[in-house]
Amino acid sequence: MNGHSGGRHHRLKGAVNPGAVRALRMVLPILATIAILAPLAWLWQASRVPSPYSVMDMGYLDYGGGVAPHPGGGHGGQMQGHVHQSEPSRLITDLVVDAARPADVRVDLVTRHETLTVGGRSISGFTVNRTSPGPEIRASQGQLIEVHLRNESVSDGVTVHWHGVDVPNAMDGVAGVTQDAVPVGGGFTYRFVAEQAGTYWYHSHQVSNPQVVGGLLGSLVITPKSGIAQQVDVSAVAHTYGGLRTINGKAEVLRVPARPGHRVRIRVANTDNGPMTVWTFGSYRLLAVDGTDIHQPTEVSERSVTLTAGARADLEVRVPGDGSAVRVQLSKASAVVIGPAGVDAPAPPQPSADLDLLAYGSPTPLGFDPAHPDRRFDYRIGRRPGFVKGRPGMWWSINGHLFPNVPTYLVREGDVVVVHIENRSGQVHPMHLHGHHVVVLARNGVAATGSPWWVDSLNVSANETYDVAFVANNPGIWMDHCHNLKHAAQGMIAHLMYEGFDTAYRISGPADNQPE
Ligand code: C2O
Ligand code: CU
Repeated sequence: MNGHSGGRHHRLKGAVNPGAVRALRMVLPILATIAILAPLAWLWQASRVPSPYSVMDMGYLDYGGGVAPHPGGGHGGQMQGHVHQSEPSRLITDLVVDAARPADVRVDLVTRHETLTVGGRSISGFTVNRTSPGPEIRASQGQLIEVHLRNESVSDGVTVHWHGVDVPNAMDGVAGVTQDAVPVGGGFTYRFVAEQAGTYWYHSHQVSNPQVVGGLLGSLVITPKSGIAQQVDVSAVAHTYGGLRTINGKAEVLRVPARPGHRVRIRVANTDNGPMTVWTFGSYRLLAVDGTDIHQPTEVSERSVTLTAGARADLEVRVPGDGSAVRVQLSKASAVVIGPAGVDAPAPPQPSADLDLLAYGSPTPLGFDPAHPDRRFDYRIGRRPGFVKGRPGMWWSINGHLFPNVPTYLVREGDVVVVHIENRSGQVHPMHLHGHHVVVLARNGVAATGSPWWVDSLNVSANETYDVAFVANNPGIWMDHCHNLKHAAQGMIAHLMYEGFDTAYRISGPADNQPE
């Protein structure tokens, strides 16, 4: 027994020469390092976006249980050019309004990189026609708006996206998807019909995180043909420049002259990256959300309204009959005071609860039936470690995938679409779908009971779920992203794509298109 084991020991000892042991000592750590690094290198490589590349090749196709254009073909892979259809596809550049139709409203917008003076401070930012916000564009419903954009000095290039307006796809202003970024000295003409009355805004969608934060934005108001019922109509564009909260570009109270008894429509737009709370003392009505009227809005008091990033809310307040003024807070730091000239109003206490739009106003038919959708999609937001654009970190995931291996939601024109949005990422996300409004069916599984709640920008808090629906009635390729533009730049982007459409534009490429 002893001899046997001793012999084996001896044999073993004899078989391994000291040189081999030394070599093994050197090789093993290298092998171990390779075993760890190879998958990481692969992940790193897979996270990098080829240059230039087409959004048509981004991530993987999600048919939402609907008809796949090409069963089994090019599905599931990353960056492999997956939308190869049997029928020739149409370029989205064709998706424009009738070129022969003359414009009703013509606007020139000139973008510049310049120093802004906000609250006495100098801030490096961006202007449109030498101001930030740029000029408000106003049109009446049904009019054709024609905007001539010229980029005077924004070196990264610019575009204009019409946030919340369901324009024809070629006019959507997304660099690398619907157009090339407009270089210094270049121009672009946008033409669309102002079909939906309401409050909207415009902003650059090229390197949008610094450009929008830096002020390359403005307000767009489309008034109904019949006019509005209020005697005073005022826009309040909220934006934070270098940490300073402003309304219409000024870090001071916005004073609106109005006579006792007048009804005032305040069009609030939140152009920041985070949610904003609005409230007043006394009562108000919430007339519209994201450019869509609330059906039979009732008087509300002791409730605030939350506007997610990119959202708009039209509030109606009445100027008191006793000669005092009414004050509307746009967050704690900024306010609108409406009333007789020179009359101030104290800051109202912030209500402890928010108006719940799931149950506000009264129901009215949606115009389509979301109970039997053609497509059902998931937009599950999470957070996980990995690489995005070659950088390691904890990144936002969509349906478990990191950018660019994200879903592309494929639809056909006419489809009824239901999307289940779920936020397991621990932070709030303002979800924004281009080219469409979606109606909220349920939040956290609780069905909506109020007015149809149509949004283009939806505040999805941590651990919330939303079920939303829409009709796929605006063909093209549309971004569906987080409007915290920092998050978008970190890869919180997916696309809604109509079968049969293609784009000739490329992300990066000669125009250096960077939509986020
Ligand atoms: Cu306000 Cu993708 O935009
Ligand atoms: Cu986000």
